Amino acid sequence: MRCRAVSNKPSEKTVAVVGTGTMGTGIAIVAARGGAKTIVFDVDGSRAHAAIEQMGRFLRRSVELGRTTNEAGVETLRRTAATSSIQDLAEADLIIEAVFEDIQTKADLFKSLDEVIRPDAIIASNTSTLSITQLASASRHPNRVVGLHFCLPAQLMKLVEVTPGLLTDDSVVQRAEDICTALGQIPVRTKDTPGFILNRFVIPINNHAIRLVEKGVALPDDIDRAIRGALRFPMGPLQLVDLVGLDTQLRLCEAFYSVTHDPRHDCPPLLRQMVAAGHLGKKSGQGFYRYTSTGTFGA
Ligand SMILES: NC(=O)c1ccc[n+]([C@@H]2O[C@H](COP(=O)([O-])OP(=O)(O)OC[C@H]3O[C@@H](n4cnc5c(N)ncnc54)[C@H](O)[C@@H]3O)[C@@H](O)[C@H]2O)c1
Repeated sequence: MRCRAVSNKPSEKTVAVVGTGTMGTGIAIVAARGGAKTIVFDVDGSRAHAAIEQMGRFLRRSVELGRTTNEAGVETLRRTAATSSIQDLAEADLIIEAVFEDIQTKADLFKSLDEVIRPDAIIASNTSTLSITQLASASRHPNRVVGLHFCLPAQLMKLVEVTPGLLTDDSVVQRAEDICTALGQIPVRTKDTPGFILNRFVIPINNHAIRLVEKGVALPDDIDRAIRGALRFPMGPLQLVDLVGLDTQLRLCEAFYSVTHDPRHDCPPLLRQMVAAGHLGKKSGQGFYRYTSTGTFGA
């Protein structure tokens, strides 16, 4: 069911974002703000609608902070439509999936996409840890599958890791990179290797901080202050895990460790316990810190 009218200038690309959780909503902002007609789709239709509301809140805050104009914010929303029907992705030039970090979920999605997308559409995965070549093998069009790994929070961070699988056409990688650049992002190419560049650093650091809490070495705030102060990180690792979502960090560890068998990538028991207790970070109001507002978006 299409819920919002969208403008359709011929010069605009159509970008579809599948999965409107923490990352998908941010990626949708990047796409729509960059001028693309943007369709957001989630298996849970209410989440697709919630994403548009979150986008609106983010854009209004951006206007208040003087980072964009009211007109630009209104136009960005006008370019965006939420849908709960996968058929609505048929017109997309680029589909970016940001569903759960689970190989079967993504493989099933790729098979469903095969039935509806255009013959020249690019299929991109925002996976953090899974092999692009393996994901592509679930599609009838592995030559059109590419990794586009946006960083959290996608609406504020410029980096996109661009990763071809073994069978990806060079022209597809180039087109994907060009679209990212046109949307104002900074693409960086990586090989199809677990964790690409960024998560080779980030996952072990986050796990290390969680293990320090687990062992009672220091409190979360002291660990974060130490890392921010000494290493000049803008955010401490435990603040970051709360923003990423503890459930997502758990899925990332499971997917990453199953490939690398590196103990630094293995899920700390405390993380598992906190997820079981429903402490998912900022999205649930409780993680390593307590939150009064549960949104994961800031301008
Ligand atoms: N959270 C991060 O910090 C981060 C950073 C970079 C990349 N990623 C990657 O982005 C992806 C999404 O992570 P997230 O943190 O946004 O997850 P999330 O749990 O916040 O959101 C996932 C969304 O996908 C939807 N979904 C699940 N199956 C679906 C399907 N078959 N079709 C359509 N929608 C479906 C869910 O309803 C949910 O809204 C993962 O691959 C993750 O590794 C996450």
